[in-house]
Amino acid sequence: MQYFPDQPPFTTELEPVKHELEYTFRYVKNILDGAEAGHDWHHVQRVYQTTLQLLAEEAKKNRLPEGACLLAVWGALLHDVADDKFHPETDSAAQKSVEQFIEQLPFAPDQKEGIHFLIHWVSFKNSFEDQSETLAKNASWLCALHILRDADRLDALGAIGLARAFHYGGFKNRLFFDPDILPTQFQTGAAYRKSEAPTLNHFYEKLLRLRDKMHTPSGLHLAEERHQFLLHFLRTFYKEIGHDAPPEGFELESFD
Ligand code: ADP
Ligand code: NI
Repeated sequence: MQYFPDQPPFTTELEPVKHELEYTFRYVKNILDGAEAGHDWHHVQRVYQTTLQLLAEEAKKNRLPEGACLLAVWGALLHDVADDKFHPETDSAAQKSVEQFIEQLPFAPDQKEGIHFLIHWVSFKNSFEDQSETLAKNASWLCALHILRDADRLDALGAIGLARAFHYGGFKNRLFFDPDILPTQFQTGAAYRKSEAPTLNHFYEKLLRLRDKMHTPSGLHLAEERHQFLLHFLRTFYKEIGHDAPPEGFELESFD
């Protein structure tokens, strides 16, 4: 089975570890098959494919730092195994499982540490923390982080992003929309995670903000079309419930 394109940097970085890649696929599939549909094995496969696509496009423009490709790929596969939304307790079984899994990989300590770094920093919730730690890191970790973040965030936009948001809202038994509960600008990841607001608020609180946070030019290009799709959806939603324009507090101009 060919898991990656037959060209550098994939052939140089992934070919030598293709057996490890194969058993990482099996490990993640086994855990996330049947998980909440927005964060299941299909989400991981989409993020993996987008990561490969962004790596290939960015590699055409600039030589990627050595090791970035391997890190981004393992980050894509493992990033949601112990998602705190579904495993909120510290030292959850899922957290321990992924730690043990990374530990037994036949990689250098620096590479394993890089995978942990990616899993922590890819999360939108953790993007409320001080980012200076990420910027101090070496070029390959930072390059992998930027590509993986863009790939994961692209899956929060467009038709898939819309489906995922409403699926998660349904999973949590949330309302679609309530004109009396206005979107909030959260200051901390904990406050962001604690919110039980209707699903449309999530568009203002996260989804419509992602386009301007893209790191790579190829990620930004893909994000633009998916962002416009979300704006079109919201305007249509408001029209269908009898509003000619977005209701007060739900304006969209600043996201155009
Ligand atoms: P991360 O896992 O990167 O910290 P989030 O937990 O913010 O990111 O979100 C991952 C995805 O989960 C979102 O893109 C969305 O599909 C869904 N999600 C998270 N929080 C909400 C919410 N409050 N309402 C609807 N969907 C949500
Ligand atoms: Ni994810």
